[in-house]
Amino acid sequence: MAFTIAIDGPAAAGKGTIGRALAAHFGFAHLDTGLLYRATGRRTLDGIDPVEAARTLRADDLDADDLRTPEVSQAASRVAAIPEVRQALLDFQRAFARRAGGAVLDGRDIGTVICPEAEVKLFVTACDAERARRRHKEMRGGGHDVTLEEVEEDLRQRDARDSARAEAPLKPADDALRLDTSEMSIDEAVAAAVAAVERARG
Ligand code: CDP
Ligand code: CDP
Repeated sequence: MAFTIAIDGPAAAGKGTIGRALAAHFGFAHLDTGLLYRATGRRTLDGIDPVEAARTLRADDLDADDLRTPEVSQAASRVAAIPEVRQALLDFQRAFARRAGGAVLDGRDIGTVICPEAEVKLFVTACDAERARRRHKEMRGGGHDVTLEEVEEDLRQRDARDSARAEAPLKPADDALRLDTSEMSIDEAVAAAVAAVERARG
């Protein structure tokens, strides 16, 4: 039976971390939808037209090892504002969301556009400083030589662009449960999310 958990929120709020943990806990499949936009944006940096890049995206493209750089983040956020790009990625996400056995998707528009009928919707946030600190630490740990200021600037620009766009902007669904993780450890955030899903499952 299909059961969908939709997780949305601004950049580096912990959506993916919580999504992966929920999927493992409940035995559901997990899709980080940001990867679709990152892989599309990555291809445009090679000169491919954004709509063409989204339409011809392949599984291999999602495995590229340079999808987390600030340059690709920015390219992802730019292509994500193009309605035809979003349209090209829609069917795959919807089918994933309603697959048998349960699914967790994280992104910006999962609860509002991709799966408005999701059984559980979480809107995960954390304050700007905490999100930048976490992403900076993560990137430094991964060997990326970026400054905290560069990460802050990337998050600030993307959140502004993602919130302001006309098509599927970043915003909580009316029935989303808000989870502010600013003062939570990963374990605490995951426990709160698990509890919310268990309440919805009854
Ligand atoms: O998917 P999203 O961009 O929203 O965030 P993430 O990649 O899951 O998390 C960004 C970073 O914050 C990761 O390195 C997490 O380990 C860390 N983190 C977190 O997700 N939640 C906390 N409560 C504390 C740290
Ligand atoms: O991990 P982080 O939160 O930094 O970003 P991401 O989830 O990998 O998403 C990268 C970019 O893709 C975002 O800044 C959005 O512009 C776009 N995106 C989107 O528009 N809709 C989604 N469902 C997921 C990502």
